[in-house]
Amino acid sequence: MSGKRISYEVSDGVVSLGFEQGSGRIAVWTDEIIQVVRPLEGETFHSKAVERERRPMKQVTGTPAAGEFAVTEEGGALIIRTASLTAKVYDGFYVDFYRTAGAGAEGGEVLLCADYRGEREIVNKISPWIKAMLEAEGHDISGLLKKNYPVQAVKTLDGDEKFYGLGDKTGFLNKSGYEYENWNSDIPDAHTDAFKALYKSVPFLITLKERGVYGLFFDNTYRSHINLGKEKSDYFYYGAEDGSLNYYFIGGEHMADVIANYTELTGRTPLPQLWTLGYHQSRWGYENKEDIRELMEKFRGLDIPCDTIHFDIDYMDGYRVFTWNEKDYGDAKELFGEMDAKGFKKVSIIDPGVKLDPGYAMYDEGIEHGYFAETPEGETYVNAVWPGDAVYPDFGNKEVRDWWGKKQSYLTDLGFDGVWNDMNEPASFHGELPKDVVFTDEDHPSTHAAMHNCYGHLMSKATYEGLVYATGKRPFVITRACYAGTQKYSTVWTGDNQSLWAHIQMAVPQLCNLGLSGFAFAGTDVGGFGADTTPELLCRWVQVGAFSPLFRNHAAKGSRNQEPWQFDEQTLAVNRKFIELRYRLLPYFYDLFYEGEKTGLPVMRPLVMHYENAPAVWNLNDEFLVGEHLLVAPVVEQGATVKKVYLPEGAWYDFFTGKKYEGGQYYLVDAPIDVCPVFAKAGSVIPTYEVMQYVGEKPYDTLKLLVFPGEGRYVHYQDNGTDFAYRDGAYNLYEFVNDGAGHVATKLLHEGYAQYQKIETIVVK
Ligand code: GLC
Repeated sequence: MSGKRISYEVSDGVVSLGFEQGSGRIAVWTDEIIQVVRPLEGETFHSKAVERERRPMKQVTGTPAAGEFAVTEEGGALIIRTASLTAKVYDGFYVDFYRTAGAGAEGGEVLLCADYRGEREIVNKISPWIKAMLEAEGHDISGLLKKNYPVQAVKTLDGDEKFYGLGDKTGFLNKSGYEYENWNSDIPDAHTDAFKALYKSVPFLITLKERGVYGLFFDNTYRSHINLGKEKSDYFYYGAEDGSLNYYFIGGEHMADVIANYTELTGRTPLPQLWTLGYHQSRWGYENKEDIRELMEKFRGLDIPCDTIHFDIDYMDGYRVFTWNEKDYGDAKELFGEMDAKGFKKVSIIDPGVKLDPGYAMYDEGIEHGYFAETPEGETYVNAVWPGDAVYPDFGNKEVRDWWGKKQSYLTDLGFDGVWNDMNEPASFHGELPKDVVFTDEDHPSTHAAMHNCYGHLMSKATYEGLVYATGKRPFVITRACYAGTQKYSTVWTGDNQSLWAHIQMAVPQLCNLGLSGFAFAGTDVGGFGADTTPELLCRWVQVGAFSPLFRNHAAKGSRNQEPWQFDEQTLAVNRKFIELRYRLLPYFYDLFYEGEKTGLPVMRPLVMHYENAPAVWNLNDEFLVGEHLLVAPVVEQGATVKKVYLPEGAWYDFFTGKKYEGGQYYLVDAPIDVCPVFAKAGSVIPTYEVMQYVGEKPYDTLKLLVFPGEGRYVHYQDNGTDFAYRDGAYNLYEFVNDGAGHVATKLLHEGYAQYQKIETIVVK
């Protein structure tokens, strides 16, 4: 390892460390964020996630106050203190982190996270005879064997840790005892708990234990491995196959503070346009303009609100990106004119793979300027996706991002309102891209191994920036693959799930963990993408979807149709009921996004985020909060009509009937097929709008407040719902104070936009 520490030097908030073997540094970002770096790849790294400057903190000699830090040497250790944290650095470059302020740290230091001093006890799962057989057949088994990684951090376990976050990983909410990989993967099978990786790499982990809570963010885009006490109950580890050890210890008194601090570092989900929070209908299988027209007729004819129709790959000419299939969809202006008139927004899919097709402008331009990834020999690298042979834009090069960004205006000129970035792991039908395919990392050549996990991130960034430039509106980008920090540019969905009960069950913890990982705007394919849905499954999924940040029904070609009207009257009625409910709750969702842009807190939250001291919620996988005020307990089991609900401390009210429940206990609640149990916290003031068939059908000039018993305060936000004028003050902020006796006092905290004509209160009793 590193051996003895032989030197240190402090400059601009960075402590540079010299060891007998190698060097390192510790940078103090804020009172709550300390970065540890052991450079192994030189200093060429450009963080994709942390796109902000570090503002140096002030070095002091005494006890540091907020915004200050101190460095001292005590008994051989180097001690770095901020107002809330202490990092102690020992020989061997072992670093231990302590909390020194706030809850749990009264009267001293609390050790939160210590480097493990022993060696990993590597357990290999391959039996000796399988190993011998594979080797005899000439297979390279190195990938199957566990090993010490060139980049590795091993941390001690107390034994009571719960782990959350990590983006879109499969399985349940609490990741303790499991192992995962970060390698963006498009595997066309039913996602099970055995999948170590899905489409996204977000190496951010929140640890909750008796002694406190903290986050670790490992900023390295190479393939990495996270083992949370599965190898041994004494430690957990992170290992990356290349790059540098570069991680941030993130403190906070409570879980919400850790998320706020993590998103202060990596960025926050920006406020979206209001229509994006409505209902979206999609299907890979709307093959022509008649299909689109039929959808519009059905939605408007059946009075089912819908804002957005997604155009999957068939709208393109031969799957060539930035083209239009006039043969099947006719004149875009004509079709989109009808859609505009009926209040439908349109979102176009765009994949990264550019068809290898001399004479096709995207291909020709990219070849001319050298915009595509190359083989180490300098040839354009070719693999295959939907259009057949295809080449891969080198998004790590800013010039390529700008080129791609400008292409967005082709889509917005046609009339598209948002862009859906898919297949950007990147997917490849002729096997994975070799690790040595040459990509660019800003100012130097890089490899697929380094750029794979951030390919979707860079594509989303190019798309977001291009859309801002083309429209001046808040971009709606939705991506399948991403890296930590992509929340700044794009909403996400969880990829190709299937119409399985196991997948609606996974949807809740998966979306909750994405939220804890900074992705406030996320959704699953409602109804399930692959396989055939059933009326019951669709009803239950619409209930989950209505409370998910992104509410989109999407299905695969060849699967059973699953639009709201495809089954019986009851299924139609359940769809309508919950889609309408979503439209009533739009101002509540919008408020949460507004708050989230400032705090980084997600819209959809596991109960543990607000009730971290309640053991009953540590592993609660089938309930969630929308903001702090609504608790949703969807039925996710086939045939169930009764739901076991845990309500946390305090009083709760059935959102529909007003029935009171005392929290801190379990209830069995009736939940026939048309009911999804929802509870409002005592004192809640929930803003609602009149149901419209789409956002903007009529002005939202009346706000209706649902007022629940108990005292409470609520802040409501209002603006034009589309552009960035709010950043210059064009918005209103209302404060509503519920006195608990059926009266709500209203105060305008900020005025910058046309106010409601009426604010009504409906007291729920
Ligand atoms: C991928 C996407 C899916 C899309 C399909 C066709 O499988 O994940 O959503 O419908 O490609 O474009």
